[in-house]
Amino acid sequence: MLTSETLSNLSWMLDKGITYMNHGSFGARPKEVFEAQIALKKEFERSPIQFLDREGKERVQHARIIISQFLGCSEKNLGFIENATTGVGCVIQSLNLPVGSELVSTNHVYNGVRQLLAAASERNDWTYREIEVQTPVHSPQQILDTVIDGFSDKTKLLVIDHVASITGVVFPVKELVLACKERGIAILVDGAHSPGMLDLNINQLSPDWYVGNLHKWVCGPPGAGFLWVNDAHLENIHPMTISHFYKQGFINEFDWQGTRDITSILCAAIAVQWGEKIGWTHIRNHNHSLAVSMQSKLIDAWKGESLSPSNGSMIGSMATVQLPIGFPLVEETVDAMQKWLYDQYQIEVPIMLWQDRTVVRISAQLYTELDDINRLINAVEASKEHFCSIG
Ligand SMILES: Cc1ncc(COP(=O)(O)O)c(C=O)c1O
Repeated sequence: MLTSETLSNLSWMLDKGITYMNHGSFGARPKEVFEAQIALKKEFERSPIQFLDREGKERVQHARIIISQFLGCSEKNLGFIENATTGVGCVIQSLNLPVGSELVSTNHVYNGVRQLLAAASERNDWTYREIEVQTPVHSPQQILDTVIDGFSDKTKLLVIDHVASITGVVFPVKELVLACKERGIAILVDGAHSPGMLDLNINQLSPDWYVGNLHKWVCGPPGAGFLWVNDAHLENIHPMTISHFYKQGFINEFDWQGTRDITSILCAAIAVQWGEKIGWTHIRNHNHSLAVSMQSKLIDAWKGESLSPSNGSMIGSMATVQLPIGFPLVEETVDAMQKWLYDQYQIEVPIMLWQDRTVVRISAQLYTELDDINRLINAVEASKEHFCSIG
């Protein structure tokens, strides 16, 4: 349990005038982590060659030790990249599949990843298909059965979210990895949201590849993504951009992809240590129970539906609930409403389209308060006048 004293002693970079309920998109940084990065940037600027050329490798390795322990994986399998999308790109680019192979994902896939998979399939004469996992989801077994039923004899790769972006649903990744292994299907886990949100042990999961972000729930800086690669594939994967160390080992190749700001990686390790001081288990538990309470309040107020069990058994620290108002189901209207909530009420929360509904996704983080939900409920009530076709 985190005391209110612990929570109020934390200091964030966020503008206190904003009710920020969208940690899921780009995370947010504690002041201590942000300032540590500024200090590192200054150090670089004082002596760039010393910092990056002579000391960079060792500094990144030190960060890798801290981050790999946190993720439950071996250092030798952990490469740093800009973000999760880049990690998916590296994996897809490394595939050597015959014409006619099928890549599958589910309808919960992140849209950027969807486009990436579709584009690669077009280029390589593969096909890309999404298995429909209906919402509300009821159980991990429902997901498992649906995904397995959705495989065909051409399926060569499953790309699965660990925590889905729009629905916030936590997928049964361990069971899906086993199911894929039994069927000779490779599996790439998109864990953009999982580090810091879920108790992660990548070695135990042991998929073929695992990509993730450290800027979201670990509260590290943007630019700190990672790609974990199973031993079986270490020699066959390369960064999107080839540079000096081509074919000189996975770590060497991923550590140098041209000049970049390594302070993001170094500072992601500092963010891990920031969380360790509070206790990652405490953070995860706090955020999860807050998300479940926030979800309950929304369901009660809107007589709506969550996209997963209302007891929170299939979410982490994000919950998605159907909005009580109806307007044309097009991107422009949901974007306009999201902007309106920000402009009029300084509430930052994503409003999205999910199948034939308009939904809101709330994120719970240490700076979020249950009372924030009341502000959202009041603002949505007021928005009806502007956006609503049915009350
Ligand atoms: C499930 C999922 N995958 C991938 C991404 C892409 O992350 P990034 O933009 O950091 O590459 C996101 C972003 O929110 C996501 O939610």
